[in-house]
Amino acid sequence: KIMEVIGQCSTTKARSGKLTLPHQVVDTPVFMPVGTQGTLKGLLPEQLKNIGVQIILGNTYHLGNQPGEEILKEAGGLHQFMGWDRGLLTDSGGFQMVSLIKLSELSESGVKFVHPRDGSVMMLTPEKSMAIQNAIGADIMMQLDDVVTSVETDQERFKEATLRSVRWLDRCLLAHKRSDQFLFPIIQGGLDEELRKTCLREMTTRPVPGFAVGGLSGGECKNDFWKMVTVSTDGLPGNKPRYLMGVGYAVDLIVCVALGCDMFDCVFPTRTARFGSALIPTGQLQLKNAIFATDFAPIQKDCKCSTCETYTRAYLHILFRTSHPSACHMVTVHNVMYQATLMQKIREAILKDKFPDFIKSSFLQLYGDPT
Ligand code: GUN
Ligand code: ZN
Repeated sequence: KIMEVIGQCSTTKARSGKLTLPHQVVDTPVFMPVGTQGTLKGLLPEQLKNIGVQIILGNTYHLGNQPGEEILKEAGGLHQFMGWDRGLLTDSGGFQMVSLIKLSELSESGVKFVHPRDGSVMMLTPEKSMAIQNAIGADIMMQLDDVVTSVETDQERFKEATLRSVRWLDRCLLAHKRSDQFLFPIIQGGLDEELRKTCLREMTTRPVPGFAVGGLSGGECKNDFWKMVTVSTDGLPGNKPRYLMGVGYAVDLIVCVALGCDMFDCVFPTRTARFGSALIPTGQLQLKNAIFATDFAPIQKDCKCSTCETYTRAYLHILFRTSHPSACHMVTVHNVMYQATLMQKIREAILKDKFPDFIKSSFLQLYGDPT
């Protein structure tokens, strides 16, 4: 049994649990920082451990290109290769189709990628994605899915992508060769309730240990986003983990935990750190702003990260102004700690059955008192 639910909110659908993975027991709800290429930009694995991170995310398309399937196999998997002994989840490469769309070609057999820089070609089929992910050896692997962004409007295309994702799930299940890795399907269906339900009906009949919800976080309006998350968690079994892909803003994490999601990932906290933006309970600080030149306080006074214990906003300000990469590392440490602390507070609130109070107080901090 992959998941034990240890606390359930009596008002919302929020729950807290423990995920038992081959390399790590993970407390949920959890946020997974993204290390696309087998490294989290700006952080060492030991720093991630010091922050308390239990699981990180990697990317099949990128890792399949470099170092590639053979070297990963020879290295004994990505855990060994990168010196990370905790939880690891790999995305399948399907989503890169959206981000690298002009450089990819789609058919029933799979996605053909042309590398944006060196022009090399990778044909990512469900079987190839499984082979690379088996070589990586992550605790959780994702099915190859056919992803459509919600800005595309063609309803037929959504239907095709959703039904194809079900067919690709079956090919992934057949191609998956290791019993020590969990394979999750990805619920698609765009912003259409009926299509989501069709996908849910199909995918929940397969023998899978958990589920992801995809095709969101692509710029759709909040009403559609919340509705689709609600439809999805309503259609999923209660005893298996639910991973909402690509979501990482504090407000979305809080709302989607209330809607019953357990796992999240997003590049936002680490990417925004490299642009000088520090996450705090009231929002964000842009450390490049002139107002921080003489601000000798830490980013956040009650933060327990090594950056806040040691460095001031003024110091970080001048490092960013003079383009020193150490500033990116320092703010990345803080932002990863911010996400981890937020999730820990969420878990504590659920276990004490005080999650609604937590929602109110954190929204008050984020948005202020409207009266
Ligand atoms: N990351 C964010 N959304 C998605 C999705 O729908 N599919 C995959 N594979 N990755 C994602
Ligand atoms: Zn900090």
